[in-house]
Amino acid sequence: MKKTLLITGANGMLGQDAAIVFANSGYEVLKAGKSDLDVTSLDAVKKYFSQNKIGFVLHAAAYTKVDDAETNRELAFLVNAEGTKNVAIAANEKAIPLIYISTDYVFDGKKTTPYLTDDVTNPINVYGASKLAGEENIRKENPHHYIVRTSWLYGKYGKNFVDTMINISKNQKSLRVVNDQFGCPTWSVDLANGIKNLIEKKSPFGIYHLCGSGVTSWFGLANKIFEILEIDVEVTPVSTQEFPRPAMRPKFSAMENNNILCSWESALREYLLNK
Ligand SMILES: NC(=O)c1ccc[n+]([C@@H]2O[C@H](COP(=O)([O-])OP(=O)(O)OC[C@H]3O[C@@H](n4cnc5c(N)ncnc54)[C@H](OP(=O)(O)O)[C@@H]3O)[C@@H](O)[C@H]2O)c1
Repeated sequence: MKKTLLITGANGMLGQDAAIVFANSGYEVLKAGKSDLDVTSLDAVKKYFSQNKIGFVLHAAAYTKVDDAETNRELAFLVNAEGTKNVAIAANEKAIPLIYISTDYVFDGKKTTPYLTDDVTNPINVYGASKLAGEENIRKENPHHYIVRTSWLYGKYGKNFVDTMINISKNQKSLRVVNDQFGCPTWSVDLANGIKNLIEKKSPFGIYHLCGSGVTSWFGLANKIFEILEIDVEVTPVSTQEFPRPAMRPKFSAMENNNILCSWESALREYLLNK
């Protein structure tokens, strides 16, 4: 019998790639975009769960505008904390396991070595705080959960740093990129495959870090993009102070992922050369 996976936020960057990855592996995929399933309504979520036969839930729906969240705190918490709670409650009522996608921004960035899954969380922006509240709600409401923290996501189906760099380079021959924030770039296809492996290996429930292996800065990432695509652009390193944004970012949010996903460089190469 086919396994059925419900994807919330199915029209997002991860949601779209995950739908393809799971469908290609023989899963029946229920793709629920915001108009099919608004996670902020517990009634709507419960109704959806009672009308559909679901084996697993990949909860990828989220409010992801990191800077806007600073002035839209209520909405960020409504979607990321309350919405996640609703999905966790509805799944738990039917004993359905749940995968919640969280973020490196639950950490404050004060470490100098990659964060471990049991390191202390201490978000420094509203988005990170709302995603952490989502983690806490999952833990409270559904014991059958994977909390998957990822970072610096890019992919074919969403606005992201990698594509932004390429687009800027079409009109500019020099650009300035922040060189004092470090993290792990992650390709959404690799993340989707990592999630599938977690389920298929029947890994114990709990927290996992699924991000590209290795660490770089935004400046390092930009340089690698242009090197792979052989684009001639001058990239100048700048500090975060020179590039102020509404939301603070952790200085160092690399996460230890025990090499579950491949190196960020090889994933980037595959993404760019097959675009
Ligand atoms: N992107 C990153 O760099 C990054 C890094 C770490 C973790 N993550 C996490 O990874 C997951 C996937 O991120 P992504 O980049 O794929 O995000 P995304 O492209 O913004 O997708 C999120 C989707 O959720 C939908 N959504 C928003 N509010 C909703 C609601 N009330 N009910 C149902 N759906 C709703 C959005 O629809 P609308 O667009 O129509 O609002 C969007 O299609 C998220 O949990 C995110 O927090 C992302």
